[in-house]
Formats: sequence, C-alpha cells, structure tokens
Amino acid sequence: MESQAPRILMCPPDHYAVRYVINPWMRSRRKVDPARAHAQWEALRETLVSLGARVLTVPPHPDLPDMVFTANAGLPVGDTVFLSRFRHVQRRAEARLFGSWFRARGFDVVELPPGLFFEGAGDALFLGDVLFAGYRFRSDVGAHTFLAERLGIRVLSLELTDRRFYHLDTCFAPLGLETALYYPRALDRYGRRVVEANVPDPVSVPKAEALSFACNAVALGRHVILHRGAPKTRRRLEARGFQVHELDLSEFLKAGGSAKCLCLELDRAVNEVPRP
Ligand code: ARG
Repeated sequence: MESQAPRILMCPPDHYAVRYVINPWMRSRRKVDPARAHAQWEALRETLVSLGARVLTVPPHPDLPDMVFTANAGLPVGDTVFLSRFRHVQRRAEARLFGSWFRARGFDVVELPPGLFFEGAGDALFLGDVLFAGYRFRSDVGAHTFLAERLGIRVLSLELTDRRFYHLDTCFAPLGLETALYYPRALDRYGRRVVEANVPDPVSVPKAEALSFACNAVALGRHVILHRGAPKTRRRLEARGFQVHELDLSEFLKAGGSAKCLCLELDRAVNEVPRP
C-alpha cells in the first residue's frame, strides 16, 4: 500500500435512479431501491477506507441521477484534471458541477477542444505510464490525441465494439503494473492485440462474468474490489496474489455501472507520468 492514503472521489447516491436510457442496461427500467443503493454504496466506501483509501465526496444534484458515477467526472493527472464532456445531453450538466469541485480543491481544470466528447476515467485508464483509452460509444478518439499531446504520454486507443460495454472500464481494468482484466469480445481484433502486446499479464474474463461487471474492478495495491458473482475471475486474480473483495452492487448495475464507475482516483502522481 502507498505511504500516503490515495484519495478517491465518490458521490452519495441520494438522487440516484434510472430515469432515462443511455445504455442497454438502463433499458429494463428496473426500479432502483434507494435504501439498498445507499447500503451498497456505503459498503463500497467502507471497504475502500478499510483498505487505506481516503474517500472524498462531491455533493449530489437532484436532477443528475448518474452523478454517482464519478469515474466519468474527468481524468485527474497530478494537479490537472481533464474535465469530461458528456456525449448524452442527460449527463452534460454534471461537468460544470465536477469542474467547480475540482477548482475549489486547487486542480487546474482543462477542457477538451470544442466538439470532442470525453467521459473521463470511465474511458481512460493508466497502466504504468501508458494510457489505455476507449472510444466510439462515449469518448471520441480525437480526445485521446489531445491527451497524448498535452501529457506527452503514449495513449493506446481501443475501439469498443459492444454497446453493453460502452465505457472502457466496463471491459478493461489495469491492476497494478503488470496485470489487467479484460473481456476480449468487447474489443475488435486489433484492440485485443493491443492489450495482449502491452499488458505483461492480461487476464481474460469469461462472458457471463463480464456481463456481471467483473471488469469494473477497483484496485488498491494488491487488493481488488468487484461486484459479487465472478468466481473464475476471482480465482484467476487470487492465483496471481491479489486479495479479492466482493461486494453486492446490484442496484448500480441497473444503470450500467459497478465498483469502478462509482470511484475516481485523484492521486495519479505526476512523476508516474513522464512530462514532455
Ligand atoms: N448510466 C451511466 C451512463 O450511462 C453509467 C455510467 C457508468 N460509468 C462508467 N464509468 N462506466 O453514463
């Protein structure tokens, strides 16, 4: 575990609900049970704290039910945050609220060039100093080029091919410097090859477990938090020395999210990413 507690941003699910349909998971319009959602979110927060993280919260907004998915706020790198620009109008107003929150905490808030969509850490995940970035359903590939230039880093763009896996963090999760979970069929052949060539130890997740969001995992050192019901993924991780913590996040699956979507890592140190 890091010497300093890593900070994670979450948003309490006070106004969380499925009120519109912007991904296939929301289509069922299954009603969210607010009390269960709260209990599940609390259990995630407590687990993060018990593993040494410091959880910060951003106030929820009554008109923005998906704000609970803070992974989509932006991509923090050092003191800078690349603010999201949401593809769907239903989530666009979140950017202003997240932007104010970051500014109030001293982040330098960078907006992407006009016309480019980008949904933050939901579509942009570091493995060491390489950024894996997803595009098509939410983020634009032009946003990746912008990030690569601004940060002077290698960005590997992966095209997402299955609407159910609409953000990269639904089908890909770097865990430490060597390992990443991935669901191969959510990527095209080229994308699979990119993962297999650039991740030293890629761990493939079977379909049934990918469909219960096993790839939407949060890593804290050698600890991994994921939604319950992924026994094969769990065994594959334990065989590599990870300690797996399974939680019930069923209420959030109704909107197409799980553990990772509910968290935003704030402390990617600048020195982990070489500056230009
Ligand atoms: N209902 C939200 C949406 O469709 C879920 C976002 C999940 N977030 C994520 N990082 N995968 O935008």
